[in-house]
Formats: sequence, structure tokens, C-alpha cells
Amino acid sequence: MVRLEEIVAFLNSTFNVEDAEDFSNAFNGLQLANDGCVHRVMGAVDANPASIELAINNKADLLCVHHGLYWNGVQPMVGSVYDLFRKAMEANLAIYSLHLPLDSHPKWGHNTSIAHRLGLKESGYFCNYFQQNCGILCEGSGETTETLGQRIKDLFPCGHQALLYGPRQLSKIGIVSGSGGQDLLDEMVKCHIDTLITGEIRYSALSFAQLHHLNIFACGHYATECFGVRNLLTLVSEQFSLPCEFLDFEGVSL
Ligand SMILES: [Fe+2]
Repeated sequence: MVRLEEIVAFLNSTFNVEDAEDFSNAFNGLQLANDGCVHRVMGAVDANPASIELAINNKADLLCVHHGLYWNGVQPMVGSVYDLFRKAMEANLAIYSLHLPLDSHPKWGHNTSIAHRLGLKESGYFCNYFQQNCGILCEGSGETTETLGQRIKDLFPCGHQALLYGPRQLSKIGIVSGSGGQDLLDEMVKCHIDTLITGEIRYSALSFAQLHHLNIFACGHYATECFGVRNLLTLVSEQFSLPCEFLDFEGVSL
């Protein structure tokens, strides 16, 4: 058994939670306490009914997530919202969340993990949100849309969308996990990035990519944000010798 407060202190320190700015509903850190004891840890991308139920069924007393409980803002604690909290509290399940610190961490974050697994060499950062480097720049180093596309296909078996309107020979690659909105596309042009690897894109990205001669690989919001959670679980497992397991909702391609 490990005290919940020890794990929280370790994660807060490792991911620099105290100084991390974020979206107002992100609430990085411990979001729901339990009785203070942890025997089994699970991780998931989202603190949603499916992951909370699975964590409870697997007898976890701590669930670590990327998207926490409060994204929809202040809500009356009634109906399905009440049921979700009641289930977690009756099962003594604590919930800990890391949003931007898990995108941007230079060693354990989603983006650096994607770069590493795709064999890309990091050369810098872009896309600074809330004082955090939410995008990683990589050198093209001889990559083509075909060579990179094949490795993306292997890394994201649930599939990806490729908008290939940029150069075949890649010179500057950007990686941003999760959601790639218009801000990100504007930043891509500003930073002379010819190829973007991200999670989800809007329909408007199609015309934008054609207009500005860009390559965009959209690999799924969920799929691009599993990596940091898996890393977090490895860290907790090594630090505290606790059983840790990632709850993978295979087949989610959103
Ligand atoms: Fe996300």
C-alpha cells in the first residue's frame, strides 16, 4: 500500500503541476480523493463513465487520466453527473488528472513519445499554449510522405487521415497531440512547417492544407494521447512498486 498523497506529490513534482497554466477546467492534479490508500493504479485518456467503471471493476483505487472530470465546467451534481461521482466515491476511487503537462513534458509527454516512436529527431518547440510547449518540431532528415506515412500507419493501427498537399520531401515536421484547430494551422504556416502530425482536425483543414501546400496526418485525438498516460503509469510503477495498468479502449479512432 502507498499513501495517495505520496503519489500525488511525486506526480505533481515530476510534471511541474504547481507552475503549470492550463485551460480553466483542466484542474491538473488530484481531482477526487479517496481514503488515502492506494493498492492498484489504472490509467486512461479520459475520466468518463467507461473508464471509471472499468477501473472500479479492476479494483483500482487510483485512476490517472489526461482529460479530467471537470471539462464541462460547473454542473449540478444530479442525474448522470451524480451517478459518476457516487460510483467513484463508493468504490474509494481517487482520480488524478494531467492535461497540458502531459502533452508538453519534454521526456514523458505525448508529443516527445510520438517523435521517438516515429524515429524523428527533435529540433525545437512551437505552439506555446499557456506558457507550455505543446508542439514539437522535428527535422525532415530525408523523410518523404511515403516513409513517414508508413510508420504512422504502423504506430496508429486504428487508422489515420492524410491530407497530402505539401512537398513529398519533408523538411520540417510538427507534432501536436490531441486537437488541431485553426490556431495550430496558422502556427504551422508561421513556423514554416510543411508536415503536421496531430490527433483530430476540422473539415476546414482540407482547404487550408491545399491553399498553403501542407501535409497533415490526423491520427486520432484518443490515439495520440495514450502515450503520456502510459509513461506516467510506468513512472508510478517504478517509483512505488505498485501494479499499474493502462485501460485501452481499442478501436477508438476519434
Ligand atoms: Fe486532448
